[in-house]
Amino acid sequence: METTKTKILKVLRGTEGYISGQELCEQLGVSRTAVWKYMKQLKEEGYEIQAVQNKGYCLTEVPDVLGESEIKSRLDTRWAGQKVYFYDEIDSTNTQAKRLAEDGAPSGTLVVSDCQVKGKGRRGRTWESPRASAIYMTLMLRPQILPERASMLTLVMGLSVVQAIRSVLHIETSIKWPNDVVLNRKKLVGILTEMNAQMDYIEYLVIGIGINANMGSFPQELQDKATSLQIELGHPVNRAELVAATMKCFEENYEIFEKTQDLSGLMEAYHAVLANYNQPVRVLEPGNEYSGVARGINKKGELLVERDDGSVKTVYAGEVSVRGLYSYV
Ligand code: BTN
Repeated sequence: METTKTKILKVLRGTEGYISGQELCEQLGVSRTAVWKYMKQLKEEGYEIQAVQNKGYCLTEVPDVLGESEIKSRLDTRWAGQKVYFYDEIDSTNTQAKRLAEDGAPSGTLVVSDCQVKGKGRRGRTWESPRASAIYMTLMLRPQILPERASMLTLVMGLSVVQAIRSVLHIETSIKWPNDVVLNRKKLVGILTEMNAQMDYIEYLVIGIGINANMGSFPQELQDKATSLQIELGHPVNRAELVAATMKCFEENYEIFEKTQDLSGLMEAYHAVLANYNQPVRVLEPGNEYSGVARGINKKGELLVERDDGSVKTVYAGEVSVRGLYSYV
């Protein structure tokens, strides 16, 4: 259900010039006082809204606010993100999404926060999560697939983020298998999937996405490995727009995935943005390290690595790390 505030934002954004208070009241079926109250709230949240007598209201500046209304007013999905929980601060959106799942939240629930105090990265690492500069979000799903297929959904999300960035910002990013999104050969996005499963079914799964959106700089030791959209584009981006676009792309891709329960329908799109494609890589499996050339993925999402002797190894996206021989990618 859309709230009145979400609807007002949608109408204001879709109106060129001014819209009268009367028209807003009629479109939304609310009183003048209610419209006035919501306008006041929106201004307090940072929206610049001009109110001119005999003309009405006009949205002149859309700030980069992340909030439930801002995200919902941009969502164009049937189920992904239709239930949004927004927090000013949270330990980790993954942890919170798991709590909500335990409490019975529906599949497709999205958790977004403006900052995380216990952000989690892959392999037990910490994910630095400063306030107001990046995107921290987690999508919770209850997929009817076998647990061994869950890692494929991380790849589906990686592809969806690349497509969302393309649709909103018109720039090409790529994927460092299995699921880092990179720009200019530096890490832009990290994805962490966790699940609660029995042997043969998944109770729920959470896919956490961290997008370096508006970070102005990185500590010296990370400067050749990490980047942000703001650094690469030279201007900040609207985070809510990217959240909504990611949900839209994921919903479409998930429906393709669901038909075969594997990546056969998405392989072409994935290969087109795979940074490691035909690139030399070093595979670091626990107790086993080797080099080869990455030849793409199979329909299970495993990376195919051709060794010097011509044999092809399939690498499962579990506890392995794949590095480029000459740079991070
Ligand atoms: C990685 O190590 O590359 C994965 C990083 C995943 C970070 C995101 S931020 C939103 C979600 N909540 C978390 O605690 N982690 C993920």
